[in-house]
Formats: sequence, structure tokens, C-alpha cells
Amino acid sequence: MIDKQNRIKIAIQKSGRLTDLSLDLLQRCGLKYTRGKDQLIAFGENMPIDILLVRDDDIPALVRDDVCDLGIAGLNVVEEKRLRFLNSSTTGEPFEIVRQLDYGQCKLCFAYPEGGKLGSIEDLRGLRIATTYPWIVADFLRTRSIEAEVIEFSGAVEIAPGMGRAEAICDLVSTGTTLRANNLREGETLMKSQATLIRTPLEVPDEKADWMARLLQRIDGVMQVRESKYIMMHAPKSALAEIRKLLPGSEAPTILPLDSLDDKVAVHVVCRENVFWETLENLKAAGASSLLVMPVEKMLP
Ligand code: PRP
Ligand code: ZN
Repeated sequence: MIDKQNRIKIAIQKSGRLTDLSLDLLQRCGLKYTRGKDQLIAFGENMPIDILLVRDDDIPALVRDDVCDLGIAGLNVVEEKRLRFLNSSTTGEPFEIVRQLDYGQCKLCFAYPEGGKLGSIEDLRGLRIATTYPWIVADFLRTRSIEAEVIEFSGAVEIAPGMGRAEAICDLVSTGTTLRANNLREGETLMKSQATLIRTPLEVPDEKADWMARLLQRIDGVMQVRESKYIMMHAPKSALAEIRKLLPGSEAPTILPLDSLDDKVAVHVVCRENVFWETLENLKAAGASSLLVMPVEKMLP
């Protein structure tokens, strides 16, 4: 029987830029789940973890209110809600930021009508800025001592200047397509964002805490292997020092003897960065041969 109390609930975006990548992360952590069409909850089959699929803007509150133990949302959403919640509560931090997950990169930017006279935030004094991130924007303007009116929109911020509701906007930019389609030019960046894991600030029961720790360790493993490569090569003993210097982001390599070759050894090493052709060419020039680069499937530090 499923013991609901001891199951971890993790909230992720229902449909949007982080949905597939978040589900992919959980799958890579070993989670198998069933999800019916249009179902807002997916039950984990092999781990006591259930996934709630919700609007990204709702994720921080679900974690604050202890409806969910964990949540994944863009740092922009997390920070906006954090500022908002802190302002309306005396109970301190509404959630803890646990990890930046290294996907869903985008940035929160000011944008100005194409061909207009606005070119930088200095030009915004006394004007109106439409945004779905009023707390972040107000905070930013305060630190720059710029007095402007921040107008909260719940969506479709891009159309505000055209409708005469604001002179500029502040919104999330990923590819820039939305800005271009709406005749807006990208301005200053207020913050860079990426998928962010948050957790409840409350203590959780031991059994749950154990699974949370396991999940986190697996997430770390998944993040590490994304770029990691396993490199194998033959190398003259005399060139080992030089070759080690050329290996990107690697730990101590494993050196193995080669049958009937006294002056050469086999070098095996995990590199935690992408390995480019240039690196291989440089290794070859340093004396390495039989170079082989393989993706790493799983890693447990
Ligand atoms: C953001 C933003 C733009 C779009 C920009 O919305 O509000 O509409 O993405 O992306 P682009 O530069 O690639 O065109 P998002 O998809 O995050 O939706 P949401 O704010 O409603 O969650
Ligand atoms: Zn949203």
C-alpha cells in the first residue's frame, strides 16, 4: 500500500520550456512513472516520488505551503516569488534553493520599442515598464536609483508598448523570437536564469529525507555526466606530464601497463568537460595514440 505521508512530491512545469527537460532529469535519476493524458499527477512506480504538473508560477507557493516537498522552476520565477513572499510574511525564507540544474537557460531583460528613442535603463526615469516580474524589476531599479513605474502584467507583456500601456517592458528572453516578433529590441539583462530546484524549509520525516538525499545525489550524478567523457589513449611514458596538462577538467588518470610495450602506457581518464577535436589533436601532437572518447552513462561520486 502506498504510504502517502512518506512519498516525496515534486512540482514541475506542466507545459513549457522546462517540462520535458525536468521529466528527463527525473527519468535519468531512475524514476519510472505513469502519467495519464491530461493528468496533473504522475505516480512514481519504483521510487516513493510523485510528480505534480502545474503552472510554473504556482510552484514556489506549493513548496512554501508544504503541498510539495520539492519544485523545479526557473530562477526568475523563484526569485520573483521569494521577494513577494518575504515582503508579505514574517516567517522568513519561504523555501530553500537547493541546486541550479544547468538547463533552461534564459535571461530577464529590459526591452524597448524598435526605432524608438529609448536605449538604456537610464532613459526609463519617470516612464512605465510592463512586466510579469514586478518585484525583481522594482528591486533592480532601486539598486540603480532609477524611479520608474512598474506595471504588473499577468502575461502578454510584449504587447504593452503597442497598446500604449507602457513605454518599455521587462521579460524573459530565450531565443529572442518573441521580442523580434513584437518589434522590441533587447536591452540590459537584470538576471540570468536557469532551472532551479527548491525544497521546503521544513524538516521532513526521516524516510522522506533519505529519499530526498538519494534523489539529490542522483541529480548531481546526472548533471556531472552531461558533459563528462571517458577518454582512453596510449601514451609514451615520457609524455605523461604534458598529456595530463592537456586533459580538460579531469581527475587523476588511471595508468595501465601495455603488453610488450615498455615505453608506452594506457591512460584512462574521466573528463568533466566537453572534449573537442582540438583537444584530441593536441594530445596526438604530444605523443598520444589510439585515442578513444566515450560518453559517460552514469556517475556516482
Ligand atoms: C517567456 C516570455 C516570452 C518568451 C520568450 O514566456 O514571456 O513570451 O518566453 O522566449 P523567446 O525569446 O524564445 O521568444 P514563457 O515561455 O516562460 O512562458 P510563461 O512566462 O507564461 O511561463
Ligand atoms: Zn509562467
